[in-house]
Amino acid sequence: VQRILIDCDPGIDDAVALMVAGATPAVSVQAVTATFGNVGLDGTSRNALAVCELVGLDVPVYAGADRPLVRDVIGGRTFHGDTGLGGVDLPPPARAVASGHAVTAIRAVVNRFPGEITLVVTGAMTNVALALRLDPGIAAGIQRIVFMGGSTEAGNVTPAAEFNAFADPHAMRVVLESGIPLTMFGLNVTHQVLATPDRIARIRGLGNPVADAAATMLGFYAESYRATYGWPGAALHDPCTIAHLLDPTLFTLRPMHVSVDTNEGQNFGRTTCDARRLTGRSANVDVAVTADADRFFDLLTTALAQYDRS
Ligand code: BDR
Ligand code: CA
Repeated sequence: VQRILIDCDPGIDDAVALMVAGATPAVSVQAVTATFGNVGLDGTSRNALAVCELVGLDVPVYAGADRPLVRDVIGGRTFHGDTGLGGVDLPPPARAVASGHAVTAIRAVVNRFPGEITLVVTGAMTNVALALRLDPGIAAGIQRIVFMGGSTEAGNVTPAAEFNAFADPHAMRVVLESGIPLTMFGLNVTHQVLATPDRIARIRGLGNPVADAAATMLGFYAESYRATYGWPGAALHDPCTIAHLLDPTLFTLRPMHVSVDTNEGQNFGRTTCDARRLTGRSANVDVAVTADADRFFDLLTTALAQYDRS
């Protein structure tokens, strides 16, 4: 069993990542922490809580950073709808957000299980960077960080930068320079796993309430991608992290040196991935480069089918 903590900004694809994590005993979620991102912190915390309750994931949900370390909050993206969950109205959470800050929760979880925790980060890296600054000693106790962010290629919020990296480049820099083993799922690979109408219909066909919610959210998300880019489906970014933990054969990884641009110019938030080892700097990240999309969606669908059991 892999002990994980999920730091997220739900977000449709974050929500699906939580659903997959909640479906299997192969990962043991110790806590969920929320950050600003796809919507504001109040929205992402509430969404995280609502999704955890929907899937029966009985873990504390902590609210964290409501803004980046240095830059201004970026806004104005509509991919996830006004509430962040693509118009799906989940029942209001019965529980409240846990008391205490996400950053102290990250520290506490790492210290409770030294060397055992994988941090799964599917939003801006602000909470993790703050935790590393609050207590640099936890770096040695984090087994690894598996994150969605950046790209070996072009961006999705500027021509150069991916959303999570652009949302807080300075925080990402702290993480990239932390020395912690890192695994990156950037746009170059998440754009290989598209939730197309067929794949969404398969999920809908499962007929349980969690799969239904996932299918409705993904339908909204796919429509965003169709309307904006003319793509045949929505890129299922964040669930790649959990899918990789559950089946490491779904993606191929290559070690590379990765840095992020923190200069406020046209490349602000851009990740530079040294695939050809041109810098001579040693690799700090295992970068996912190829995905087996059919097997990824098989895993996702099988995971969501677990919610039939009620
Ligand atoms: C990332 O941005 C967010 O909108 C998604 O949830 C994902 O984490 C993709 O660039
Ligand atoms: Ca996200």
